[in-house]
Amino acid sequence: MVKIKNIEFYNFRNFKNFKTSFDDKLNILFGNNGCGKTNILEGISLVAKGKGIRNANIINLIKKQEDNFLIKKNLEIQKNEFNIEIFTETNKEKFKKIIKLNGDSSKDSLNFLNQSVSFLIFLPEMERLFQSSPSYRRNFLDRLIFSSRNDYNILINKYKKSLIERNKLLQSYNIDDDWLNRIESDICLLGLEIYKLRNLQLNILNIELNNMKKDHNFQFDVKLKIKDDFENTEINSEEYLTKLINSRAYDKQFGGTKIGPHKSDIISIVNNEFDASLLSTGQQKTIVLMILLGQCNHLVNHKKINPIFLFDEIGSHLDKYNRQILLDMINRFDIQFFLTGTDKNLFSFVSTNAKFYNITD
Ligand SMILES: Nc1ncnc2c1ncn2[C@@H]1O[C@H](COP(=O)(O)OP(=O)(O)O)[C@@H](O)[C@H]1O
Ligand SMILES: [Mg+2]
Repeated sequence: MVKIKNIEFYNFRNFKNFKTSFDDKLNILFGNNGCGKTNILEGISLVAKGKGIRNANIINLIKKQEDNFLIKKNLEIQKNEFNIEIFTETNKEKFKKIIKLNGDSSKDSLNFLNQSVSFLIFLPEMERLFQSSPSYRRNFLDRLIFSSRNDYNILINKYKKSLIERNKLLQSYNIDDDWLNRIESDICLLGLEIYKLRNLQLNILNIELNNMKKDHNFQFDVKLKIKDDFENTEINSEEYLTKLINSRAYDKQFGGTKIGPHKSDIISIVNNEFDASLLSTGQQKTIVLMILLGQCNHLVNHKKINPIFLFDEIGSHLDKYNRQILLDMINRFDIQFFLTGTDKNLFSFVSTNAKFYNITD
């Protein structure tokens, strides 16, 4: 069980000096546009690996005209309290995020932290998840995988690096064939692993969504699947490698790699009939919430991971179906929630004791 007990910001985004404590269960942040609600969620999310919920360049986290930011928080992990400090350091002009756990930034401390903390995230852009670009849907799926496997980003990064390396080689004057073969077989191995994990994740979600039908009268029956060149085929490494080799000329001419998991799309078939891109934004939100509920169920019951929910601008489009899903999440799991919206009234349907925060700038 992980809970964020309190937080302090110094020169972080629009905050000069901000300090608050949190409820173990339900925190609702409200206030006008631009008051810093998303910034607070971002500050919370930075305790995990990576660049936070906005995937922002670290330099933008520092309050304008200042040199550095400092985020302090107290975390409760399995009933023990830890203090966390997050700030940046520059190395050869590059900014790097530093995290200290009880004053210590050793690998062991950071591994412990990464293994303990997991987030499930809703962002307002997700109301158009099925109308946005395939890359946004891939990232959405990858974030879900990351919520249960904190080393997944290493695989993705290795894969991306290998693609860049292959590109460079293809563009070079004297192609080193051995090197190219080596890289392509690496790409196949890594790519197959990504396909495997993504398919596994989608299967888990399809099963969870199906099981939840018992306690929910969801409006939609949803099936998720991957769509790309390898769709409907049992991809094996031989076929993958052959396709890669055959696309060398094309890839050299156009730059990039034509096939692989970086080209996949994730599609969602509704009621066995149509693609979720035809749904309204509020209805797409329903599907995203269903997916997050399913993933939470999986994390809590099968992985013994208690994620923290960061739901930004969740207040809009909360019709009775979306409210029902949100309430079910809040009531079903003993985990910590952070919800934001412009107005306190948007959350009047929440019956659980919630702590409300009026954020003013
Ligand atoms: N590095 C920064 N320094 C100072 N202000 C910033 C910085 N980054 C963002 N802001 C300000 O933060 C505000 C946006 O905060 P945000 O959390 O997105 O608001 P909201 O409450 O609508 O979610 C904007 O006014 C923006 O100018
Ligand atoms: Mg916002």
